[in-house]
Parts: sequence; C-alpha cells; structure tokens
Amino acid sequence: MGDFDNYMEANKDLWDKLARIHHKSEFYDVAGFLKGGQTLDPIELEELPDLSGKKILHLQCHFGMDTLSLARLGAEITGVDFSPEAIELARELSKRARVDARFICSNIYDLPDNLDDIFDIVFTSGGVIMWLPDLERWARIIAGFLKSGGFFYIREFHPFAYIFDNGERVTHLQVKYPYFQDREPLRFEDEGSYASGDEKTGKIPSFEWNHSVSRIINCVIDAGMKIDFFHEFPETSYKALPFMVQTESGRWILPENQDKIPLMFSLKATKCD
Ligand SMILES: C[S@@+](CC[C@H](N)C(=O)[O-])C[C@H]1O[C@@H](n2cnc3c(N)ncnc32)[C@H](O)[C@@H]1O
Repeated sequence: MGDFDNYMEANKDLWDKLARIHHKSEFYDVAGFLKGGQTLDPIELEELPDLSGKKILHLQCHFGMDTLSLARLGAEITGVDFSPEAIELARELSKRARVDARFICSNIYDLPDNLDDIFDIVFTSGGVIMWLPDLERWARIIAGFLKSGGFFYIREFHPFAYIFDNGERVTHLQVKYPYFQDREPLRFEDEGSYASGDEKTGKIPSFEWNHSVSRIINCVIDAGMKIDFFHEFPETSYKALPFMVQTESGRWILPENQDKIPLMFSLKATKCD
C-alpha cells in the first residue's frame, strides 16, 4: 500500500472506533434525536433554502444524525461515509427513527465508482475536510455529483482556528500547527475525541491535513462552481480550545479579554453549466 492508502486505513480504524463511542455519547444524544430532534447546526438551518423534495448527497455523514435531520426537512437523502461501523449504525438509526435514507459505505475518493447518480445539493459539515489529503480531487468529485444549477454547501471549522495549541493547560492563543500545509499530514495519537467524554479509543494514529481558506475556495472554483457566499463566524459548536467559554445558546467562544478569530466558516457554491 502507498502512503495515501495507509493514511486512509488508519483514519478508517479510528472512525470505526469513534462511531461506536459517539453513538452512545451525551454529545450526540441519540435518545433526543429519536424523540424527533433536529441536529443540523443553527447556521445551516439559517443558510439553507427550503429542502423539501430536494435530492441531497451528504458526504462524511458519520452515523447519520444530520443525514436523517436533512430527511426530516423533506429531502431525499443519500449519506456517505467510509466507516463500515458508522454506516451500519446509520442504517439502524434510520429504521429506529422511521426516516427513509440511503447510506453508502465508501471513501469519498472512490465514490464515483460506487455511486451512479446526480443531485440537487451536495452537503457536508462539521469536521470533514481535515481528513482529506487531496482537496482538488474532492471538489471535482463534488461537482461531478451535482446537476447543472445545483449547489454545494459546507459549514466547517475554520482552518485558522486549527493552528493553535489545544493542549489541556493552554490558557491563550499560542500558534503550534501550520496554516499553509503541504501534502504531508499531521500525525496525531489522541485517545478520545470532541464527543467521547471519558471513553477512550486507545492509542490509534490518525492523519490530518489543514487546508487554507484560499485552497478551499480555489478548489471549488477550479472544479466549475461559482461561489455564492463565504461566511466566517467567531463561535463554534464544540470546545475546540480548553480556555473557550460557553454562551447561553450553547456555542463556544474565546473569553472576553481575548481577540476574536474566525472559528467556523460556511460556503455555498453553484455548479456552472
Ligand atoms: C467529524 S466526523 C463528521 C461528523 C458529522 N459532522 C457529525 O457530527 O455527525 C468525520 C466523518 O468523516 C468520515 N471520513 C473521514 N475521511 C473520510 C473519507 N476519506 N471518505 C469518507 N468518509 C470519511 C469519518 O468516518 C467520520 O464519520
């Protein structure tokens, strides 16, 4: 196997473990979801148009809560993830919630071989592009699944926010990681995640890539899409840095005495003819 395959295999092992742990976690609150809850981020609910009757491809769908939430808004939905555990849990959740959805287990980079279909919208969100080594190819694959006039939407953690040290004892913004990253990934060996609480995965190596804003935007343009908007937000949906404080609405921000930086972004782009 080459480096690319090794990185993908290692990341898949991690996500297989995390899928099981996340499914039981307080953070994801599956019980609340089964009572009819909506898991889409408030930014997504505000920025997306009426989805009823729209055919949507959800990339990196994890175990399907956002996928099924999109279906609850009236979309005809297909979720894709490369973790077999996540896809199994997503199919189970779809049955338990009585919400129709199609789930496909595939690496995004293999998706053109595993899915022959065309969509009104391609959607992805919340911790996705840092797992992808080749953003040019990712954007071309997205454009390939969109019908002309269809759109791509992403709400994602901001790459600028990823350059800061997130070690347990850090009290302010301290640069640790690169913003302009070449093709070599960062290697991590964490034992938990943003949602795993006290449950540990054990030490599993994982590989991540920080993609700059200009790379994200140019990849989308080069793949034949026209940017409708790009927004940045000084708040995020999880405690990304140990000194962040939580707002009344449940968002995480930097403390009052620290300068604001962008913590999330959203982008919508329409496929040109
Ligand atoms: C942080 S999770 C996304 C979480 C999602 N926003 C949610 O909260 O449910 C990232 C997902 O990307 C998937 N993933 C990572 N690399 C992938 C790849 N190359 N192809 C397909 N899925 C991938 C993982 O299995 C994981 O489910």
